[in-house]
Amino acid sequence: SKPGEPDRDLEGLRVLISAGGTREPLDPVRFIGNRSSGKQGVALAEAAVARGAEVTFVGAHLEIEPPRGATIHSVETAEELRVEMIALLPEADLVIMAAAVADYRPRTVSEGKIKKDVTGDVLTLELVKNPDILAELAASKAEHQVVVGFAAETARTQEELLSLGRAKVARKRCDYLVLNTVGWTEGFATDGNTIMVLDRDGHRVIEAEGTKLSVAHSILTAVSTRTPSEIAVEPPGAP
Ligand code: CTP
Ligand code: CA
Repeated sequence: SKPGEPDRDLEGLRVLISAGGTREPLDPVRFIGNRSSGKQGVALAEAAVARGAEVTFVGAHLEIEPPRGATIHSVETAEELRVEMIALLPEADLVIMAAAVADYRPRTVSEGKIKKDVTGDVLTLELVKNPDILAELAASKAEHQVVVGFAAETARTQEELLSLGRAKVARKRCDYLVLNTVGWTEGFATDGNTIMVLDRDGHRVIEAEGTKLSVAHSILTAVSTRTPSEIAVEPPGAP
């Protein structure tokens, strides 16, 4: 491990990570998707594996190789991701929702290919809201489990970013929210990232900047300080 980086400090911790972007089908050949590459989620999984954690990774359309050393599950839609995450939740100590989940899906999926001569000059798609998986996991988790969300916001100032993040963490009721900003750094590089972690009360826990792997290590350190191994060694009645 690198200097200053804890070695195998997550040994025995069961980490569940979602990453990539879901796709919502319109018909057999078309979908509504997003541009998430899954890079930060893969970096988180690889960082957790390197530190000895037992990692389960649920990927939706990754643009890169899945993380080595993790158990891999693949999903397509938000609903499939939801079913998978709920099924895997009981086996996890730490859950990180790094996936870009489609906010809406087509109300109906056409059984055959949608044809222009049928739909005409203007095609109106009706979309319905997908369930909020992060909020659901946070609401159904056990006391000892830690649930972490991600949010990419376009804020002009740190203050605006903080207030958007605080509103989101309050709405989702997750333990931590990683604010993934677009706009802090000039020439926002695909291999780098700048993040801020808020706790459930909206307090700033850490800020980190660097490669997605170094940021991943900072996130893991920040969110794993309250994990079962630590809680277990606390004497009874400790605050
Ligand atoms: N998320 C989720 N289920 C959804 C939408 C989002 O679990 N249906 C999760 C994402 O994986 C992420 C977090 O919620 O960890 C925040 O996602 P984001 O898109 O920023 O939040 P939304 O609630 O969708 O709000 P908006 O897109 O309107 O900002
Ligand atoms: Ca969203």
